[in-house]
Amino acid sequence: MHIESFDLYNPPSDFVNNVYKYYNLLREKSPIHKNPDGSYILTTYKDLIGVYRNFKIWSSNKKTEFGAKFGTSPLFEHHTTSLVFVDPPDHTRIRKIFQQAFTPKSILCLEKDISKLVDGYIVMMHEKKKFDFVSDFSFRLPVDVVCGILGIPSEDRHLIRDWAHKILGALEPKLTSKQLDEGSFAVVNFKQYLKDQIKFRKTHKDINKANEILSILIEAEGLELSETELLHQCIFMLNAGHETSTNMLSHGLNELVDHRDQYKLLQKEPSRIDTAIDEILRFQPPIQINNRRCLEKTMLGDIMVPEGTSVHMIIAGANRDPSQFSEPETFDILRSPNRHLSFGLGIHICAGINLARLEAKVAFLRLMSSFREINLLKKPNVANRIRFREIKEMQIEVSSF
Ligand code: HEM
Repeated sequence: MHIESFDLYNPPSDFVNNVYKYYNLLREKSPIHKNPDGSYILTTYKDLIGVYRNFKIWSSNKKTEFGAKFGTSPLFEHHTTSLVFVDPPDHTRIRKIFQQAFTPKSILCLEKDISKLVDGYIVMMHEKKKFDFVSDFSFRLPVDVVCGILGIPSEDRHLIRDWAHKILGALEPKLTSKQLDEGSFAVVNFKQYLKDQIKFRKTHKDINKANEILSILIEAEGLELSETELLHQCIFMLNAGHETSTNMLSHGLNELVDHRDQYKLLQKEPSRIDTAIDEILRFQPPIQINNRRCLEKTMLGDIMVPEGTSVHMIIAGANRDPSQFSEPETFDILRSPNRHLSFGLGIHICAGINLARLEAKVAFLRLMSSFREINLLKKPNVANRIRFREIKEMQIEVSSF
């Protein structure tokens, strides 16, 4: 295949197993690549930060794209109300509420809860010895944490995973009518579920106190947030806060196991954890693509593009741009500086950075100190998705000290 004819909506059949090879080729041969539908694919670090920073021209509002994709379905309402897909001034108003909820102090308070959860999974891992790391660890931790924050009872957490998968699955570049129906159904059910939860919390003020983040959002309803906005921000946070972190944990362990010297190094020098987490995020960004649309004609490199042009910002490409990262194909847990774009940049930069980092820190430090070795029993099963880099299953065997 000639990279010049690359089409993100119809990628080659071996794409998912070779994403970095294709994105590297695009960056080298066609860095501002015109997709057959007229949108552009950007893969250089410089081009991505240029778009992220220029939010007045490069809009996150997806009403046009999602109108065409989702029609008037509940998916449209959800994805066009979520914080990540709105522009200022609405974005500024809603983001401020999130910031009150996600202060470093409120996140730090979660450390004890996260450690307790991880210790519980590790007891089970010692007993089982062989198991699927995704279902027994990397999925459980972020869902338990984010559901805890929003006060969702543990017996309902399987519902959240299913709904989240269907709602986020609808964001893949190509959408089937089955995905559209399932995604819409999931939004309706999720909304109703949250309405009931919020009603319950409003009448049980003592529970509110235990779930600070949900309380802040509920208190903002009617003042800075409408009911629809409140429900969709909760759905968005439940979705945004678990798929991404799950994949960070799965890929992180996979890379550490695959690069045994780095596993041993982290085990010997746990103080390297912060740079290790950044390298995991750089090397395998859980969200591989962000999108923007220009509100007026503008320059992309030396190309003038018309108003309404959409861009696919390939984080997975920029994170391996050799003009920003030396030896980008090397997985190096000591890499510093490491200004990867896995959390985005600019006004929409991830609101959950501190939480995601805390989850990774507790998880990897506990895993490294609990198990002398962790081995893969077979090659992990990577999902056929483009936007989210998901490991579906990862069978491992652990050896205790
Ligand atoms: C490793 C885990 C995570 C990754 C890789 C990640 C990645 C991202 C990225 C790339 C964006 C920017 C999207 C854009 O600019 O279009 C974003 C936004 C966001 N993320 Fe995360 N995220 C993670 C975890 C979390 C967690 C744990 C939460 C909360 C529980 C969260 C909440 C949010 C929110 C609220 C936004 C929207 C911010 C805004 O639009 O102002 N994320 N995330």
